[in-house]
Amino acid sequence: MQADKVEIWWMRMDAVAFDDWQRLEALLDDDDHQRLARFNHVQGRQTYVAAHALARALLSSWQRRPPEDWRFVIDGRGKPEVVVPAGAPRLRLNLSHTNGLVAAALCLDHDVGIDVEDLGRKADCLALGKRFFAPSECALLQAVPPQRLTETFLSLWTLKEAYVKAIGKGLAQALDRFAFTLEPPAITFAQAMDDDAAHWLFHQERVGDDHVLALALHHPHPQQVAMSWRAVTPADLAVT
Ligand SMILES: CC(C)(COP(=O)(O)OP(=O)(O)OC[C@H]1O[C@@H](n2cnc3c(N)ncnc32)[C@H](O)[C@@H]1OP(=O)(O)O)[C@@H](O)C(=O)NCCC(=O)NCCS
Repeated sequence: MQADKVEIWWMRMDAVAFDDWQRLEALLDDDDHQRLARFNHVQGRQTYVAAHALARALLSSWQRRPPEDWRFVIDGRGKPEVVVPAGAPRLRLNLSHTNGLVAAALCLDHDVGIDVEDLGRKADCLALGKRFFAPSECALLQAVPPQRLTETFLSLWTLKEAYVKAIGKGLAQALDRFAFTLEPPAITFAQAMDDDAAHWLFHQERVGDDHVLALALHHPHPQQVAMSWRAVTPADLAVT
């Protein structure tokens, strides 16, 4: 395992065939199955199964262990952390699910966050931007041609979510205290944030025509980080 590596796996939900579900569910543990029992809708249930099976298989590809053996503790803000033996390096994992796509990112020790969104999502982007984003991001949204508005909004949104997930605060963090520019993604912080842009790696990726993915990784030397990207299918999860 390399300290300067982050591995990102994603899986399209349309890659999962009817016969795969039972195999994916077998990769989950009892806690997952208890959470699954609370889902009323098939889509939410399937997304959960796919995302958690993917995340567990990713962990097992780094450290040989049956996927269903991994345990997590959930902190006060909802962020799951991988349980590792005392003294062992911390395995840091984050996952994200949206309509049609699930993804997970894994690294050693460093804060990591990932977010995926469906570009077909219908939203009043200008109104949402005005409500949640920093002024410079609202200006960016105002300036783009209408046909690029949704993509620009979701590019900013995924980066912002990846960052708040990496720091573990989730949406408890006010989203207007920091701002992104795009292509390449870069962050600036309001003074009150007490964070340093030089210690962050951000990356954005279009996944097919339908999805956008963003990654945030806190690292003392972001330029030294090697990113490894892999599109997987249920068959890949079964053989890891
Ligand atoms: C975390 C959060 C930003 C996720 O947004 P989302 O786009 O709806 O969901 P995603 O699919 O991208 O990510 C969900 C996953 O992120 C992880 N997650 C949950 N809380 C998290 C947090 N605070 N930080 C990082 N990751 C978190 C979980 O693995 C979750 O998946 P699971 O519920 O299936 O285990 C949002 O749900 C959130 O902020 N939740 C916490 C709510 C909160 O702040 N409560 C108040 C506590 S003070």
